[in-house]
Order: sequence, then structure tokens, then C-alpha cells
Amino acid sequence: MDKLVVGNLKMNVLSPLERDRYLDLMKKELSGKELSKTEIILCPPYVHLESFKKGIGEKIKIGSQNIFWEKEGPFTGEISPAMVKNYGGEYVIIGHSERRKYFCETDEEINLKIKAALKASLRPIVCVGETKLEKDANQTMKVLSCQVKEALFGINRTKIEQVAIVYEPIWAVGTDVVPTSNEIMEAKLLIRKILIETFDKRYSEGVRIIYGGSVNSKTVREVCIEPGMDGVLIGRESLTPFEFIKIAEIINNG
Ligand code: PGA
Repeated sequence: MDKLVVGNLKMNVLSPLERDRYLDLMKKELSGKELSKTEIILCPPYVHLESFKKGIGEKIKIGSQNIFWEKEGPFTGEISPAMVKNYGGEYVIIGHSERRKYFCETDEEINLKIKAALKASLRPIVCVGETKLEKDANQTMKVLSCQVKEALFGINRTKIEQVAIVYEPIWAVGTDVVPTSNEIMEAKLLIRKILIETFDKRYSEGVRIIYGGSVNSKTVREVCIEPGMDGVLIGRESLTPFEFIKIAEIINNG
């Protein structure tokens, strides 16, 4: 199973000029690099989906940072899974903590989005994670368990392999504070257990469980390689192609 290295560009890359500069740098970093054991995905803002797809080359796949669950119609400001797919997207991040926080996304809505993505043949990258308050109250496992179960409720087991799950503690996003390898491993084991109980081992063993939150070239061994994670979701460092590809190389060679 190839490791996933996902870049979440968030609300950055503000102009065509910035976009072109970014794509040029990324292509330079990629050239001549052997990254055959990783699947690299970039999730730019919607406005750049098409140009990223055309400009980035074969080595990187494209995804969006969100979708709406309806296919088309009177939903002002929303983007449907079919649109992402038709503009070259293969993946979609769903349930990122910033969407849960600023746009009040619920587990129920996240579930609808995952189902809509799968229906449109987009692969969901589903984020789950606890707040600092929940961690301090020893609620991490309970929170993760609820989020995973509700997100994946009613999904056909023949489709579950298309899903990747990100353990992304909210207190680790953008903070440079990361959990210990053991904490990450515990979260991974819990998520794997829920997957096996819900979907059967045979159907769920291909589901990749990755880590997100303050991943950089210094933390990547502790947060991904040591706990045996199947990849990473990278925020800030994905804005610097040199750093992003450096992390991908460490994972590829790990
Ligand atoms: P970060 O963000 O790498 O900047 O902590 C990760 C994320 O929000 O997905």
C-alpha cells in the first residue's frame, strides 16, 4: 500500500502569478526524484483545481478541500463532487477541523459529504481529532470513536477502501505541538478496530490511516514513521515545495 502525502493549501495562493510560481517550484522539486512508494496529492482552493491539474504533471494527484453533498442545483456558493471530478480532482478532504469550527460542520453533514464523494468516484480524506479540552479530560478515544462511526455510518463496505482517515488532533493543527508516537499509535489502533468491526477485515484493511497536524521534516519520523502511519496531511509546509517534497522523500524512504 503506497503511503499518502497530502498537501492542504487552505485559503492560500492568491493570484495566477503566485499559482504559477508555486507550480514551477513544485515541478523543480519533483524532477529527478524517485517517490514510487508514495501517492502525492495537492488540495488547492477550488479556483486553482483545473490549472493545478494541467500544470503539475503526472506525479501529483489533485483534490479539493471540501464539497457539498448535492450534485447540482440552487445551492449558491457550493461546489459539487461532480464538479471536482470533472475538473480533474481525484480526492477530497472532508471534515477538516477548520470546517467543523468556522462553518459548524456536523458529523451528520460529514457523513453526507463522504457518501456524495464516493458516489461521484472521488476518494474522501476524512479528518477526525479531539480538542485540547477533550484531550485533557481523557476523552480522546471516545471523541474519535464517535467521529469515525458517525462519519462512516451506512457506507457500503465495498466502497470503504476508497476512504482515508486522518487522525488530526485539533490542538496540533498550526501549533508546532505534536502528540507522542504512542498517542498516535493508540489512535490508529482504535480507528482500525472500528473499521474492522464495522466493515470486516477483508474490506477495510486497505483503508489508509494517516496523521495530520504540524507535520514537517523534523516531526515526520515521530508522527508518521515511528507509529506506522500510512501517510500524512500537511498544512503550512505544503506551501513550500522544497519542504513538502522533503517530507515526501522521508516517508518514501522510511
Ligand atoms: P498544519 O495544518 O500542518 O499547518 O498544522 C494541518 C492541517 O490543517 O491539515
